[in-house]
Amino acid sequence: MTTQRSIRLRLRISALSISLAIAATACGGDSADSSDSTAPPAAGSAAEVYSFNCARCHGAQLEGGFGPALDAGSRVGDLEDTEVIEIVTDGRNTMPGWGDKLSPEQITDLVAFVRESASGG
Ligand code: HEC
Repeated sequence: MTTQRSIRLRLRISALSISLAIAATACGGDSADSSDSTAPPAAGSAAEVYSFNCARCHGAQLEGGFGPALDAGSRVGDLEDTEVIEIVTDGRNTMPGWGDKLSPEQITDLVAFVRESASGG
């Protein structure tokens, strides 16, 4: 009974990560109308890990929500890589830690993904 819902959800999530991947690749460009592009889904990519684990608090386009914005112009651009890795691994205040759910490689990739988004503008 939940199968149909989760398929729909997975479809939405992969559509989302495709557009995130495009936004991340089109670093600095105007990524406004990437809607009818047909890039292949990047399975297991940082964008996908992001949409699965982080988007609900930091926004589908990293625009922020419950958590702070991580996109261009946000504070994360001023933090050191090691600091960001530490926040994502161990958590901070109401931000949960991901050290026991994601591998160090996934976290490093995520930080690079966030970093690219934060500097892309
Ligand atoms: C439950 C909601 C939630 C989820 C899920 C979440 N975060 Fe956060 N995140 C927060 C909050 C809240 C903060 C602010 C923490 C503080 O400093 O008080 C934060 C802070 C951050 C920061 C530091 C930003 C800054 O300006 O200080 C980074 C980077 C970050 N999160 C990345 C991630 C990544 C990557 C993921 C997915 C693996 C993720 N977050 C998942 C809520 C969340």
